[in-house]
Amino acid sequence: MRKTVAVVLIALSLAACSKKAPDPVEQIIVRKPGDPPVAAPSQAAAGDPVSAGKQAFAASCAACHAAGADAPKGVGPTLYGVIGRKAGSVPGFAYSDAMKASGITWSEASVERFLADPQGMVKGTTMGAGAVGSPDTRKAIAAWLATLGQQD
Ligand code: HEC
Repeated sequence: MRKTVAVVLIALSLAACSKKAPDPVEQIIVRKPGDPPVAAPSQAAAGDPVSAGKQAFAASCAACHAAGADAPKGVGPTLYGVIGRKAGSVPGFAYSDAMKASGITWSEASVERFLADPQGMVKGTTMGAGAVGSPDTRKAIAAWLATLGQQD
């Protein structure tokens, strides 16, 4: 008798399992009144290069570079308006002779090249870190830098 009950229970639980596929996973975002709007979670993943570049800048560049118009200089010069700017031209920043003499006018393409290998492109630059291995990330950072200084 005991055995039969056990077998029936197993049969029942198997039946319950196979009855239907598990529900699809849903994400529920709970917001309190006054909370800032929730950004679409897929924004960066969907390949918005500007917001991906902003995040990458915060992670890899912001320790040395500010990005605001009147930002004080850090270890590196502010990168506000850097696209279209002559290399080594932020007043009051102590650039290396190599950067000042490089003859570069920064474009998105040249920033991407610089980030691939700063020392290789500007031999003797004092930018000792900040090389970015991923071409996509370099492109995203350059795309975001290009938006700075264009809002005003
Ligand atoms: C460890 C500090 C440091 C980090 C991290 C760093 N930089 Fe730099 N960067 C510098 C310094 C210092 C200079 C000035 C180099 C020179 O004069 O040779 C510079 C110069 C530059 C320049 C040229 C600016 C001009 O006015 O000509 C660009 C563009 C630049 N950095 C982009 C970046 C980006 C983008 C990142 C992040 C991926 C980054 N840097 C990370 C220190 C840093």
